[in-house]
Amino acid sequence: MIHQLLQDRLQEAARQVLPKADTSLLLVRPCPDPKFGDYQCTALISLAKERKLSPRQLAADVLARLDVGEWCEKVELAGVGFINFRLQTSALAQALQSAIRAEHPFVQKAKQPRTIVIDFSSPNVAKPMHVGHIRSTVLGDCLARTLRLLGHRVITDNHIGDWGTQFGMLLVGWKTLLDRQTLEADPLGEMDRIYKAISAQCDPEKPGFHQSTLDRARAELVKLQSGDPENLAIWREMIALSQKQFDEIYSRLGVKFDYALGESFYNDKVQRVYQELTDCGLAVESEGALVVFQNEPEAPANIKAQPFIIRKRDGGANYASTDLATVLYRKENLKADRVLYVVDSRQRDHFDHLFFTVHRWFTKTRRNPPELKLIDFGTVLGDNNKPLKTRSGENVKLRDLLDEAEQRAFKIVSEKNPELRESQRREIARIVGLGAVKFADLLPNRQSDYVFSWDKMLALEGNTAPYLQYACVRIRSIFRKGGAENAQRGVRNAELSLAAPQEIALAKHLLNFGLVLEAVADEYRPNFLCNYLYELAGRFARFYENCPVLKAAESERATRLALCDLTARVLNQGLEVLGVGTTEQM
Ligand code: ARG
Repeated sequence: MIHQLLQDRLQEAARQVLPKADTSLLLVRPCPDPKFGDYQCTALISLAKERKLSPRQLAADVLARLDVGEWCEKVELAGVGFINFRLQTSALAQALQSAIRAEHPFVQKAKQPRTIVIDFSSPNVAKPMHVGHIRSTVLGDCLARTLRLLGHRVITDNHIGDWGTQFGMLLVGWKTLLDRQTLEADPLGEMDRIYKAISAQCDPEKPGFHQSTLDRARAELVKLQSGDPENLAIWREMIALSQKQFDEIYSRLGVKFDYALGESFYNDKVQRVYQELTDCGLAVESEGALVVFQNEPEAPANIKAQPFIIRKRDGGANYASTDLATVLYRKENLKADRVLYVVDSRQRDHFDHLFFTVHRWFTKTRRNPPELKLIDFGTVLGDNNKPLKTRSGENVKLRDLLDEAEQRAFKIVSEKNPELRESQRREIARIVGLGAVKFADLLPNRQSDYVFSWDKMLALEGNTAPYLQYACVRIRSIFRKGGAENAQRGVRNAELSLAAPQEIALAKHLLNFGLVLEAVADEYRPNFLCNYLYELAGRFARFYENCPVLKAAESERATRLALCDLTARVLNQGLEVLGVGTTEQM
């Protein structure tokens, strides 16, 4: 990769000037404004400041020792100490040439592959997956795909909520209210119904409160937790029914997990957590519960001096106990270097508690903690800027949402392609509809809330999945018209040379694909990739308007076909990483 070559040379030149400095921080990255160049290094400024040198002087000294003449037209010193590089078109053409033969054009594998566990989706048993789950599912899946493509060892784990107090109420509902027939037709709907009916009676704040129901729910929970065969059997049935429905959604979304180790998997592993945390002096008994107080001066402000309850007063495990045991398991058994938790921003305090506790616990017991990161995200909103709900005020079920996406896409596809068979139109609509929902979810900065809009996400113009999917179709059709085989052969053996400004602009953008993936992986922000692909499609459109491909003169044809080929491959790879499918026709 060209930026890498420039970077190596720059670091070498910097070492000549400052032999003792850590020059690995001198990165060469795309220049934010093409006016100034194609690539840029800004890091000499901080290197100079640390040493109380003049940044501009340091940059000038480095520049004097820098030789990148074989790739660059010019290298300039700008502003307070920026170094700007502008590529020669011949170097650009050469980079394209080698990309044509690469399996993953413009992508470089990580130099230090890591084992990364990604905990995402993680719905709760007996509750329908709703629109809130789409974010965790789609984000987590995209991060898994990105990190894998970059050569990391990724382990995906669905941490299903299959244990906890809700089962007391569910068991009462199951035994007193269950309608077997409805359960068969719509298991999650029926379980949701009985849960809501009972939980309304268990809330002392609510008018329908019944002390006796609450007592019974508690008793059923205790029975379950102490291994009562009847309750265990019901609990297993609830899990199996839920899992079936979750799997249906995952298969529609094309999402796979390596593991689905739910909370209950850790039932026999929490004891060790209590023991270790008590032995190392972190956890203490407080009002009957086992608690970690975050008294350290470096505790995050939002949890400082707050208790982190790791075992309930009744001796039962809670969300914290299982999450602590889960960290241990992922470290010891899955060999995780890093764990990513893709969870709603509203759980930030829980995770700050968890991460801080793990850090103290592992430090005290002289172990290396895995790196733990919360990949948090905002809420999906309706037109009214409030969390998206159905007209009757319920959570929008994910299944209904996906159905609607396919139906709406079907209407659009049918209007555009009335000549296609219905089954074909349905298949295209499936890919377009689901792609649109996923892309719309990945496009905003993940921490912001976003307003859900069918019209926007399904538009064929603008930064949407359909627009990008359509761009793929268009490029494919160029190859089809050109006689795919001849065209592909031409591309592989071509001697490339770039001339038109639109060719050059497109080529430069292609080159940055790998860097964008790395940025997505560094900051866990797929929106970088969405924007990159949109820009790529735009540059391709301008190129295609101005530069005939199949009708071009022999000397230009090969280069232009190569640009088409690489654009198609990068677009496809990019959409694949986002989990968005493509189709032959649209
Ligand atoms: N089941 C939880 C919920 O629906 C999310 C679990 C996230 N993962 C974790 N290890 N805590 O809120």
